[in-house]
Amino acid sequence: MRRLDQLLASLGYCSRRDARDWIASGAVTVRGDEADDFGAKAVPADVRVDGEPLDHPDGLLLLLNKPLGLVCSHDGREGPSVYSLLPERWRRRNPPVTSIGRLDKDTSGLLLLTDQSPLVHRLTSPKHKVPKLYRATVDRDLAPALIERFASGTLRLEDEEKPCAPAELKIVSPREAELTLTEGRYHQVRRMFATGGITVLTLHREQFGALELGDLALGAWRELPLDYFSQG
Ligand code: URA
Repeated sequence: MRRLDQLLASLGYCSRRDARDWIASGAVTVRGDEADDFGAKAVPADVRVDGEPLDHPDGLLLLLNKPLGLVCSHDGREGPSVYSLLPERWRRRNPPVTSIGRLDKDTSGLLLLTDQSPLVHRLTSPKHKVPKLYRATVDRDLAPALIERFASGTLRLEDEEKPCAPAELKIVSPREAELTLTEGRYHQVRRMFATGGITVLTLHREQFGALELGDLALGAWRELPLDYFSQG
């Protein structure tokens, strides 16, 4: 049971103050009866706004194909963000929709978004070792010796003490590779290649765990069941 004004505000319909006016105007019903008390408590499934059920009252889990040029930040000073791709109402939710880990501005591909903070913590925790597969193109031919270096568990990034966990590198053509990481350090793929004097030219994340983008267009998202990561 949640207070009506809090419920509407947390789902991004309006501010708590506006919720009071909405409720007074008769737009909100609970089990078919017009609500008249903004402080009354209700079960989300019983509430309708303008006759419609509430918008994802239990939470959101989205798989987005991130385009280049957008940041994974809520701070507008960092530039246009992935959240600009979402409907206004979802952008006003509280708890807010945030990314599960980040892709940098110049990286495209699979990004998960959710308002379920326990899920963010679980899936970004190094303990869980979720494999993430990236496709990179680089500025010079890749030496096969790099495969062993990345797999060794001893590769150290500049200014970091702790070596990177073993990572799987597959060279698919002289200047293109797939790299699977179980960590998510800052700019990790670019910095791993940089240890060998190699610059990453393009970077795209193709998989997160067993999830793939399929035919999802750049900038588009699809919903996943909230219990997707709890299923067997
Ligand atoms: N590694 C990077 O360098 N950038 C990303 O966005 C993700 C992994």
